[in-house]
Amino acid sequence: MSSKGPLKIENARQIALCTCMQSNHWPLCDATHHTLGGDGPKLIELDPRKTYYFCTCHKTKKSPYCDGSHENIEKDAPIK
Ligand code: FES
Repeated sequence: MSSKGPLKIENARQIALCTCMQSNHWPLCDATHHTLGGDGPKLIELDPRKTYYFCTCHKTKKSPYCDGSHENIEKDAPIK
C-alpha cells in the first residue's frame, strides 16, 4: 500500500468528509453516496485562519486528522 500523505486544507470554514467509503475524491464527499447508497458526509467546522491535514491512508489514530502514520506505511512496505 502506498500513500501520498495527508490532504491539506486551508482557508475553509467547513468540509464534508465521506463516510460511505465510495468517494472518488477521498476523504472528501463527492456525492457518490446519492447514486451508490450509504450514509451522507460528516460535516466538519474549520477555522479558516488555520491549516488542516486530513488522513488519506486510514492509519491515523487521530481520525480524521493526519498523525504522520502514512510515513510508517512506506517504511514497513515489503522490498520487491
Ligand atoms: S460520497 Fe461518501 S459520503 Fe458522500
